[in-house]
Amino acid sequence: MNGPGDKAPKVYIETFGCQMNKLDSELLMTKLLDEGFIQGSSAGEADVILFNTCSVRKHAEERVYSRLGSISRIRRGRPWVVVGVVGCMAEKDRAGIFERVPQVDVVCGVRGHDSLPGLLHRAIAARRDIGNEPSGSTRLCAAGRDPGAPAIAAVYGVSRRPECRPSPFQAYVMAMTGCACKCAYCVVPALRGAEASRPVDEVLNEIRALARQGCVEVTLLGQNITAYGRSLGLKDGLADLFRKINDIDGLRRIRFVTSHPAFMTRRLLETIADLEKICPYIHAPAQSGSDRILARMGRGYTAKDYMELLESARCIIPGVEFASDFIVGFPGEDEADFERTVDLVRQARFLNSYIFKYSARPSTRAADWPDDVPLRRKEERNTRLLKEQATVSAEKHAALVGSEMEILLEGPSRRTPHLPTGRTRFNHIVFVEPVSQAGLAMGGRGRPGGLEDCGGRHPAESARPGQIVRVRIKHVTPLALYGEPVGG
Ligand code: 5AD
Ligand code: SF4
Repeated sequence: MNGPGDKAPKVYIETFGCQMNKLDSELLMTKLLDEGFIQGSSAGEADVILFNTCSVRKHAEERVYSRLGSISRIRRGRPWVVVGVVGCMAEKDRAGIFERVPQVDVVCGVRGHDSLPGLLHRAIAARRDIGNEPSGSTRLCAAGRDPGAPAIAAVYGVSRRPECRPSPFQAYVMAMTGCACKCAYCVVPALRGAEASRPVDEVLNEIRALARQGCVEVTLLGQNITAYGRSLGLKDGLADLFRKINDIDGLRRIRFVTSHPAFMTRRLLETIADLEKICPYIHAPAQSGSDRILARMGRGYTAKDYMELLESARCIIPGVEFASDFIVGFPGEDEADFERTVDLVRQARFLNSYIFKYSARPSTRAADWPDDVPLRRKEERNTRLLKEQATVSAEKHAALVGSEMEILLEGPSRRTPHLPTGRTRFNHIVFVEPVSQAGLAMGGRGRPGGLEDCGGRHPAESARPGQIVRVRIKHVTPLALYGEPVGG
């Protein structure tokens, strides 16, 4: 075997991290296909393997480095394989990645993605020449230029290709990049650069094109989506953008992440309530329930402000659900601070909470403060908060038993391939079970009847992913709802 020869190189991208990274992977793949590469379906068959990485917490980086440990094995039978590290960790560690993992050929930070195709072509040629010899000559690195508006257009202005999207009927759309908030723990502003919003027309044209391709749901992405338009000099930018997107034919649902609590205006809440396509699910991380810790984090609100936001949102938007992130074990967090966070989780009644143990990130303000909460304590607080949230989620879910809800079918899940799943507008996850009938194991215990068990009456038979169907909730867990289809 001597490599792909003159054939177009096959690329596979493995993605770590947030929705932004998932979209970046999709757009990188699109760009590479435009440049003559072809899409591989696994690392095992690829000539180029890219790891799109995350740096938000130390643990995220450790996962990437452990995965990079497999490069030598991958190259054993295929010495020509080019390995690239892209994304946030590539931006942060740059050439340092070559020191730690000498087998890597290309490092391309999130701010250098527009130069990736050229770097890969050079690395492919270099690897073909050197075979399996460890050599510095394949090492190519790009990172660190501030993107600014033209580069954002270059990276995010590509024409979307349906074959690169994980779902034919759902899509992420980048509304803005970077972040101007300087939260003390957060490495993102240093990696993704200054806050910059894409022009309104560019976002609208992209969503119109996606709707023409059959997308019924878009999720607008921004590190702080609630600041959309600020860099364009717009006031109420997100609310106005919502109104325009809501008018796009074919589109059924509009989601958005991540919201900053301090940027949620009454006007924005009223717009969400007003527009039928905007999903009433707001991911607005509280991070802590202690005012002392919130002030140290630089979040710009108190726990009381946060609770007032929830209260007014719930008055204005019927049924709105909130989700939150929390950091436990932030420098200086004592038991009393943590109890305030527990109180907030009990009172706020989030649909779900994502809980993270603090880890110091370089070039953040908090990195200069002693990381003084022992790991054991962070773990205890993590477990305790998860438990509090699970109780709330279970109660909220239990209250829905017997109700009818509309879900967008997403197809079977990886863990339960025999059951179609979907989401409500409020972002509840719903597993769709066969319509109750004699002989079927319904009621949540054991494996419910599969397609073959139910005499052709499984809902998947008539409803396909991408469709919106009504279900009646039969039983629940803290994580999900289980329902059966109603109506025709
Ligand atoms: N340590 C732990 N968690 C962090 N997050 C961000 N930075 C850190 C850090 N240094 C969490 C926040 C954020 C989520 C994406 O990750 O809760 O909302
Ligand atoms: Fe990770 Fe943040 Fe980068 Fe997303 S933006 S990949 S969460 S570091």
